[in-house]
Amino acid sequence: MSGVSKKTYAVVTGASQGLGKAFALALAKRNIPLILISLPGQNLIPFANHLRSTYPIAVRYFETDFANDHNILAVTQWINNNYNVHILINNAGTGGSRQFDKVSLHYINTIIQVNVKATSLLTHQLLPNLQQQKQSYILNVSSIAAFSPVGYKTVYPASKTFIHSFSIGLAEELKDSNVSVSVINPGAMKTNPEIAKRIEKQGTLGKLTLLDPNKVAEFSLNRMFKKETVILLNPISWFISKLLPNWIKVPMMTRVIKREVTHE
Ligand SMILES: NC(=O)c1ccc[n+]([C@@H]2O[C@H](COP(=O)([O-])OP(=O)(O)OC[C@H]3O[C@@H](n4cnc5c(N)ncnc54)[C@H](OP(=O)(O)O)[C@@H]3O)[C@@H](O)[C@H]2O)c1
Repeated sequence: MSGVSKKTYAVVTGASQGLGKAFALALAKRNIPLILISLPGQNLIPFANHLRSTYPIAVRYFETDFANDHNILAVTQWINNNYNVHILINNAGTGGSRQFDKVSLHYINTIIQVNVKATSLLTHQLLPNLQQQKQSYILNVSSIAAFSPVGYKTVYPASKTFIHSFSIGLAEELKDSNVSVSVINPGAMKTNPEIAKRIEKQGTLGKLTLLDPNKVAEFSLNRMFKKETVILLNPISWFISKLLPNWIKVPMMTRVIKREVTHE
């Protein structure tokens, strides 16, 4: 690390909108310097400027597509060469509801690349930087979908199960160190018009698990700073994860998502 800046930063991926933007705002309110990462052309720069002019913090940004390892490693190299990092929020993620025999190779690859590869590689490459700070935190964004395999989603819930499992394993490995690892499993959040439309089609279940992204961000940061490993956000997700066996929840969830796919 070159040590250009003595500040320690929080890195947030998928920071231009939705839950990532809510995390960036919640961190800015705590006067924590930010490194925001988003896809190109998502209005990240005006958002970074807004945060700079509203809060007394440094805000850096990097626009890239996590579509390949090279892009992910370019971000981590830029961060490690220039900045100290004490918080990493792996929020970027992608998914969808589709009939599996109709999806493209690109659809499968992108979900695995962004959800599984980017989360793992960013964590791996930034861990030495995090370990050099006094106390550091990693917060990974999984999903309620991690708790149940679901037909018509297939790859997405499996990728979120990976994030859940990866986080708990890493938390255990690092438990006696200065890096704590947390994972959240949000239910539905109306973070953009397409997701809002999908949630509407899910009926009662979508409504029961509905969360406000700003409240999720605030609550999650509070728990993350308390070094909680699995941060449960609502009782419904706890109920689905702990009590319902697969033979009940998998067909139930699949019926809900099939409604989304067949009513397109
Ligand atoms: N919304 C929900 O109902 C819900 C429920 C459970 C879990 N989650 C999880 O919560 C996280 C945030 O979701 P969200 O609903 O706020 O937004 P989202 O529309 O699901 O997308 C998340 C963000 O990930 C970033 N991203 C997507 N593809 C990328 C790529 N190829 N390269 C780099 N970044 C990419 C984008 O950020 P930029 O636009 O800033 O580039 C995008 O806005 C995701 O991990 C999602 O899976 C969401």
